Amino acid sequence: MGKTVILEHPLIQHKISLLRDERTGTRDFRVLVSEIAMLMGFEALRDLPTKLVEVKTPITTARVPVLAGKKLAVVPILRAGLGMVDGILSLVPSAKVGHIGIYRDEVTHEPHDYFCKLPKGIDNRLVILPDPMLATGGSAIAAVDFIKAKGCNHIKFMCIIAAPEGLKALQEKHPDIDIYVGCLDDHLNENAYIVPGLGDAGDRIFGTK
Ligand code: PRP
Ligand code: URA
Repeated sequence: MGKTVILEHPLIQHKISLLRDERTGTRDFRVLVSEIAMLMGFEALRDLPTKLVEVKTPITTARVPVLAGKKLAVVPILRAGLGMVDGILSLVPSAKVGHIGIYRDEVTHEPHDYFCKLPKGIDNRLVILPDPMLATGGSAIAAVDFIKAKGCNHIKFMCIIAAPEGLKALQEKHPDIDIYVGCLDDHLNENAYIVPGLGDAGDRIFGTK
């Protein structure tokens, strides 16, 4: 059974509040998304396994912990998930990176996939799946479906803002994955945008529209 963690750290909350502000421009928005991803990644990777190895310090020899277990892959959901990759890689620089392209139809809000390139041996990796927004949950559910179909069964989904509707849908469809949420918002509006939210994450990161 996976867990859902709503991150309540004041630094994360403060940076998310800056992101929401419509006056925050592209440059600052990008920096904030990356910083929040790093802070969230710190929490999401808290349960990585370690093993003891012997190291000789200038003083003595000691048995000390180093990371062990599965290798990592970071697989952002394009486009907006790309903005979170650098922040996560700053914690685990040797992780491989894959990409899943999914966009939401503006009218039906159904997810459509258009690209997928995953690292070799994905079935044996822990996959970190970042996307700033979890709205209806359609895109995240489709991405997890895809990764599971490649044989991977250890997935941590990370989003900066979630709507209750999308969180519930993802938990119900994929109860085994861990979900990390920066802030749980109030509801979806009639266009399936998160309220209060931050608008269109992809457009704000890349300066489109
Ligand atoms: C946004 C966001 C998520 C999706 C969330 O992407 O980055 O992927 O919407 O909505 P959902 O939970 O209802 O599926 P969008 O489709 O706007 O594509 P983009 O990142 O290319 O702008
Ligand atoms: N995608 C976004 O980028 N923002 C929303 O509020 C919902 C979906």
